[in-house]
Amino acid sequence: MEAKQICIVGASGKLGQYMVELALNEGYQVVGVCREKSRHKLDRFKDRITLFGGATDDTDVIRQATEGCVAVLTVLVPWGVHGYSLGTARAVLEQSPPDARLIFSCGWHISQDGQDQYSWKLKALVAIASPLARWLRLVDIEDQVRATNLIFQSQRKWTVVRGSDLEEGESEGLPVWAKHVGDPILASNRTRRIDFALFMVKAIDNDVLIHQSPAIVSCQSARQ
Ligand SMILES: NC(=O)c1ccc[n+]([C@@H]2O[C@H](COP(=O)([O-])OP(=O)(O)OC[C@H]3O[C@@H](n4cnc5c(N)ncnc54)[C@H](OP(=O)(O)O)[C@@H]3O)[C@@H](O)[C@H]2O)c1
Repeated sequence: MEAKQICIVGASGKLGQYMVELALNEGYQVVGVCREKSRHKLDRFKDRITLFGGATDDTDVIRQATEGCVAVLTVLVPWGVHGYSLGTARAVLEQSPPDARLIFSCGWHISQDGQDQYSWKLKALVAIASPLARWLRLVDIEDQVRATNLIFQSQRKWTVVRGSDLEEGESEGLPVWAKHVGDPILASNRTRRIDFALFMVKAIDNDVLIHQSPAIVSCQSARQ
């Protein structure tokens, strides 16, 4: 039987590289999209994946890269102040095959229904960091909010995975999740980046997650 093909948009970043590795281990044929200048970061996979160089919000690149894919895993990042996240989400929603599972990454600050309960620390961080980052023209947090709002309104088979604080290290297993930030299970606020990637890859076959925005944490920290 021929292996199923998936596309990883933003494959050269830290999360993207973990997703490439895990998806290959799961037996998927992997197509990656990354900026031309970042191709070298994926050199160790070069004989095993197909790579498209380009901006992740480039509709032509996304159409070509996702052709024939059963799933598209997208790293949503709010870099710059020109709507990169929104453009990426739009390109994936509009250009990928109609039946594909679409899985997007973002942070806890994103809220699908406004029912999340945030700590004063997170609220303060967003309130101070957002305007500062935008003023420096580095990051526009609101861009990721606009991107996920577009996804939440879509009829496509999407999942928006909301990551907690991330740390490096060996896998601790598939993270646990809750519908809303503020749920006691999420108290540790930490996830290994490799396990964030694992959750993204495993979501491909988990239909329970369709039209959900799971907030995730390490399964081990949740037990402590
Ligand atoms: N960092 C955290 O603590 C944290 C916490 C919760 C959730 N998240 C979410 O996790 C996901 C991945 O986060 P991460 O921190 O692990 O980052 P990452 O995987 O290293 O990804 C960064 C991505 O941004 C791209 N990028 C970097 N600079 C760019 C620029 N100037 N213009 C366009 N693209 C640029 C990178 O591409 P190149 O390889 O081409 O540079 C890469 O694809 C994001 O969706 C984030 O919202 C992160």
